[in-house]
Amino acid sequence: MTDNRPIGVFDSGIGGLTVLREIWNTVPGESTIYFGDNSRAPYGTKSRSTIIRYSLQNLKFLESKDVKMIVVACNTASAYAYEELKKRTDAPVVEVVTPGADEACRATKNGRIGIIATKGTISTGVYKKAVERRAAELGMKDIEIFQQACPLFVSLAEEGWWDTEITRLTAEEYLRPLKDAGVDTLVMACTHYPLLSTVIGEVMGDGVELVNTGVATAKVVRDLLEKEGISSGDNGNPVREFYTSDEPELFEQVAAPFLGEGLPSGTRHFSTDKYEVNN
Ligand code: DGL
Repeated sequence: MTDNRPIGVFDSGIGGLTVLREIWNTVPGESTIYFGDNSRAPYGTKSRSTIIRYSLQNLKFLESKDVKMIVVACNTASAYAYEELKKRTDAPVVEVVTPGADEACRATKNGRIGIIATKGTISTGVYKKAVERRAAELGMKDIEIFQQACPLFVSLAEEGWWDTEITRLTAEEYLRPLKDAGVDTLVMACTHYPLLSTVIGEVMGDGVELVNTGVATAKVVRDLLEKEGISSGDNGNPVREFYTSDEPELFEQVAAPFLGEGLPSGTRHFSTDKYEVNN
């Protein structure tokens, strides 16, 4: 069976593009609809109930576009809202925490894993638990996890300041404790952070593996499409649509250098806050 409907992807803003790009690379024949909730970003500093409400509203929007799968391309929304999202839709829902945790456990050699994320994701403890669970499944002993919230990284990424002096100084400040702890693997547990990976990598230095959760998530998407029998098959002409709750031109200006040839055009504005949801 094949299914040519699009995959729906959402994030608080442009961070989810790091996941979208990996989905395009991994399953190039699939159509996608991306929603960036830029006007309400950042999510990482907001309360649990707000993040769940925003996520459910974003779900309603994507469902109105008849998507066949939902990808929560935001660690904060995955950490707080994944269970709720699953309850509210019949479509398969893919989150980004579990694939990132799996990748981290496979990458580490000295068992010292760093996790950088928004305040919201860190405070749920969801990521730490996911890494511990995966390490136990893989029979790994003596895993040590070091967490650090890096709230300013999201604003720097949204601003397009991906490789600037301010970003470097900010990264040095945030990452010092993780360097001192001797981590050999660093999970960028916020989908915005891979946009800053040049600076993050240079500050951490050689020998520290950076985990981009988008890569691992895209593999989960591919496997799930196959398992559910909803791959697009031989779709030579995938459709790639973009929506933002803020200014489409601003969105495209920041997104374009990152997406390269797949750069968005014809981005449309949509505010999901018009949807009523109970949570
Ligand atoms: N990109 C998101 C994440 O992965 C959220 C960043 C934010 O809006 O605070 O957590």
